[in-house]
Amino acid sequence: MASSRLKRVEESATIKIANIANKLKQDGVDVISFSLGEPDFDTPKHICDAAADAMYRGETHYAPSTGIPELRSAIADKLRTENKLDVSESNVLVTPGAKQAIFEIMMSVLDDGDEAILFDPAWVSYDPCIKFAGADSVWVPTDPDNGFAPDDISESITSKTRMIVVNSPSNPTGGVFGKDIQKQIADLAIDHDLLVLSDEIYEKIVYDTEHFSIGAMDGMHERTITVNGFSKAYAMTGWRLGYVTAAPDIFKGLLKIHSHSVSSATTFAQYGGVAALTGPQEPVEEMVKEFKVRRDILIDGLNSLGIKCKKPEGAFYAFADVSEYGNGDDITEKFLADAHVAVTPGSAFGPSGKDFVRISYATSQERIREALDRVENALM
Ligand SMILES: Cc1ncc(COP(=O)(O)O)c(C=O)c1O
Repeated sequence: MASSRLKRVEESATIKIANIANKLKQDGVDVISFSLGEPDFDTPKHICDAAADAMYRGETHYAPSTGIPELRSAIADKLRTENKLDVSESNVLVTPGAKQAIFEIMMSVLDDGDEAILFDPAWVSYDPCIKFAGADSVWVPTDPDNGFAPDDISESITSKTRMIVVNSPSNPTGGVFGKDIQKQIADLAIDHDLLVLSDEIYEKIVYDTEHFSIGAMDGMHERTITVNGFSKAYAMTGWRLGYVTAAPDIFKGLLKIHSHSVSSATTFAQYGGVAALTGPQEPVEEMVKEFKVRRDILIDGLNSLGIKCKKPEGAFYAFADVSEYGNGDDITEKFLADAHVAVTPGSAFGPSGKDFVRISYATSQERIREALDRVENALM
């Protein structure tokens, strides 16, 4: 009964592992979960208050499909001042999560037989979205010793290439692309007349480095589609709130899909988004400070167990080379069965991930230490 489009796409591996871990939890097992991609912090109170106030004020009706004007304006301000993007509020589309924005982008700019370049490993949903659109992913290898920066991209560009997907900081590697790498990507995009999808959802979670938006580079404004959202920076995963900005012709296409599918993001949630962007940013800084301490505990611990992993510069993931003990799929099963520690096999993120596991350190320092002890025992 399934469509041919659907048959090209696998079930999400991250959700599969989470389901097994949840089953163990239901059976009373104390599972330490490093598998999900969401901050373990609560949404800051002033954001919840703003959404609750909006709800009680009666902001419970359909919003404009593009988003409420207050939020579009706050997003455009943010993108202009923080990201140096040349954006007006009329080119900002508010979406129910960055994921929906990415789906809409792939569906509106890719055709059957087109190719989109992904840096291997890449977040689990890019490839399925590319396939839903009838296009194919072309995986470019990256170098774990160089922050998972891509090797030679130009070799992978063909007459069918339409888009390069950039995700810095990266899920699953935590790698951050500096200006030099982004400039190489920008030059290739300009030379070959390609679009760049820049997914900047982890931009606020960087350690001792700066985030940089590729859309701000010379010649990149018209060809960059920038995606961001509230899930990670403001611990708002369940709110389903994200956004995208693109040149007017692309924007029109996005809006067509958006208005005929989801209509709009939830109205009162959007008022929470305004409070997130215009209110105090200290909660974000506190969260990042805590993530950094956890990162250091985790990476030092992994390396002392012979599991190779350089300190990632961003996001809250470590992509660890477990080849000393087996392949990533086997080690994921072993960690879950013998240590009751849930990670995600690297193979879920692309062909190069088979010797790796992704560890999401969105869990307390105490639990990270305990997990390291359990893993050490399981590996002995
Ligand atoms: C790289 C990346 N992009 C986009 C998303 C989707 O975020 P949202 O919750 O805004 O849909 C995620 C969530 O895991 C992600 O890791």
